[in-house]
Amino acid sequence: MLNGKTVLLGVTGSIAAYKIANLASMLSKLNADIHVLMTENATNFINPITFETLTGNKCLIDTFDRNFQFSVEHVSLAKKADVVLVAPASANIIGKMANGIADDMLTTTLLACKCKKIVSPAMNTNMYENPIVQDNIKKLKKFGIEVVEPDTGMLACKDIGAGKMPSEETLLEYILMEIRFKKDLAGKKVMVTAGPTEEALDPVRVITNHSTGKMGYAIARVAMQRGASVTLVSGPVSLKPPAFTSIINVKSAQDMFNEVSVRAADNDIIIMAAAVADYTPLNVSDEKIKKASSDLSIPLKRTIDILKYLGENKRKDQFLCGFSMETKDLLENSKKKLVSKNVDMIVANSLKVEGAGFGTDTNVVTIITKDGYKEFGQMDKEEVAKCLLDEILY
Ligand code: CTP
Repeated sequence: MLNGKTVLLGVTGSIAAYKIANLASMLSKLNADIHVLMTENATNFINPITFETLTGNKCLIDTFDRNFQFSVEHVSLAKKADVVLVAPASANIIGKMANGIADDMLTTTLLACKCKKIVSPAMNTNMYENPIVQDNIKKLKKFGIEVVEPDTGMLACKDIGAGKMPSEETLLEYILMEIRFKKDLAGKKVMVTAGPTEEALDPVRVITNHSTGKMGYAIARVAMQRGASVTLVSGPVSLKPPAFTSIINVKSAQDMFNEVSVRAADNDIIIMAAAVADYTPLNVSDEKIKKASSDLSIPLKRTIDILKYLGENKRKDQFLCGFSMETKDLLENSKKKLVSKNVDMIVANSLKVEGAGFGTDTNVVTIITKDGYKEFGQMDKEEVAKCLLDEILY
């Protein structure tokens, strides 16, 4: 995923330094070229050999180390870097960065770097809240450096408050957001629906389907990483919401309709990847919904067709994409939906094909537009997301 990308990790003297080993390992599995630069103090918390083993690159500490592969290492590394993450960032490094101090390998490299810099402060709450540190953080932001908000919780010193470095997974999201994709959706507003919807029959039972939301969540994540401002309207799923997206949780088709319809006109691209439950109880009183009954012969009606509504009320310059789950006549039925619902694209997945559909990490899709159709082989759901966004854009 990160082939050809160079990531610099600046590690400073904080107990959270040990967590960066896991981050380096995650980045290495994504094939990034990782270079770790440590301050002297950081080496008291974690041994440079750990990073060297994980990254395959020499861990750089002292500017005047004579065991160099080439001479002006801080400059060449700075030129190669696609992103730098300083994590954990101590109060000391934040002060040095804010004031242009360059007195070791990490700080000299940071000054020579032109790429995006991300800083993740990690320190005791009193230090973090100190007005000098806060002032330095403001300065970093002023210079275009991204500052990761620390988590609040119990710190290593047992104090409770702000100053905890976020998880390695969160830090990875910051890096991916920066370097994974070209920002070809910058300035675009994208709304994605995901997951199943649930229609209550009574306080215990619901009508729903097997959707896990993986496809919609993958689309939201990839769109966000390509620079879009993403709203994810999600039915009940057990997935972690993608970082940097605004999430709206819904239960029923009517809830989803309410949330989607009020936001529709504000979005450039709408992708209905949710598997909306097709039926809901007809005229069942609230009393009945509140009371479990053994009588399941409840009359049903179709749920409101959200995609159809969006097609009928489409902004002229808006792109509308729907999904289609079929067990037979996939292409024919999907083409019909394209026309009857006035959508620009239907992503059809057959429930009959191995590696496609609900719950799996992969999907096998056919993308249908007015101009024809394209069949794709089995792909990871994020790869499918990338292909369908490519089809929308290019
Ligand atoms: N959809 C919707 N509202 C519904 C049902 C479906 O917006 N009440 C959307 C889905 O999110 C999907 C598309 O319509 O993007 C197609 O869903 P699907 O269930 O395959 O199609 P239906 O129109 O419900 O037709 P059928 O179930 O008869 O195949």
